[in-house]
Amino acid sequence: MVNNKALGTGGRKSDKDLKIRVKTAKGRKVASTKWLERQLNDPYVARARSEGYRSRAAFKIKEMDEKHKLFKKGMRVVDLGAAPGGWSQVAAKAVGSTIEKPLVVGIDYLDMDPIPGVVLLKKDFTEDDAPAMLIEAMGGQGADVVMSDMAWPTTGHRATDHLRIVHLIEIAAGFAIQVLKPGGSFVAKVFQGGTEHELLHMLKRHFNTTFHVKPPSSRKDSAEAYLVAKGFKGSAPAEGKITPVE
Ligand SMILES: C[S@@+](CC[C@H](N)C(=O)[O-])C[C@H]1O[C@@H](n2cnc3c(N)ncnc32)[C@H](O)[C@@H]1O
Repeated sequence: MVNNKALGTGGRKSDKDLKIRVKTAKGRKVASTKWLERQLNDPYVARARSEGYRSRAAFKIKEMDEKHKLFKKGMRVVDLGAAPGGWSQVAAKAVGSTIEKPLVVGIDYLDMDPIPGVVLLKKDFTEDDAPAMLIEAMGGQGADVVMSDMAWPTTGHRATDHLRIVHLIEIAAGFAIQVLKPGGSFVAKVFQGGTEHELLHMLKRHFNTTFHVKPPSSRKDSAEAYLVAKGFKGSAPAEGKITPVE
């Protein structure tokens, strides 16, 4: 089924020769075959496996952290749309989160295997009681970073998909403004050309700097991009407890 064309080429093996090709099998759709072929040939998938990350997405937040210096030891982080857990793994390591003193809280409506040093909630973030549950899981403490890699499964209807993603970003941004400590950062998956003018304007009012980022590990053929907002101007207490807004 998996046919490595490099085998049997005899001479020098170029990257092209080394590409693994997958034959379409009976009962497998062309799209699934293409997906499988892409996974097998993706260097980030191989790196994620060898470095112990649960997803290739881990490299996106690693790259954004390298460039924009998001994490420091001792910081508190909230991961929205955390499954399968790559971003939480990266954040937990970067802030030095431990089982004894967890500094990272993740939420997803999908099941996730436990991650040491990360408190995981199985919950739809758009439900009314989700913010209060996250704040409780943080022990009422403010966050230094709120990051969201959330996206709904696409419907194929462009306008609907666009509205759905904008809605997700808006509630993620609203939550960030509620819980971030002054100086904190917000990272959210957006789609190229997709950050609504109003939302960007609102973020610019609350943060010192905002950037659109396309990390090198984000697939070139995907419209995915990220918004990084740094230097939260403040409203949540730097120390002490946050009271959830009803
Ligand atoms: C691209 S994946 C996240 C990958 C993750 N950053 C990682 O590194 O493993 C997007 C996740 O967002 C989750 N998601 C989307 N909408 C959500 C919602 N309303 N509430 C909670 N999770 C949501 C999906 O279930 C999915 O697991």
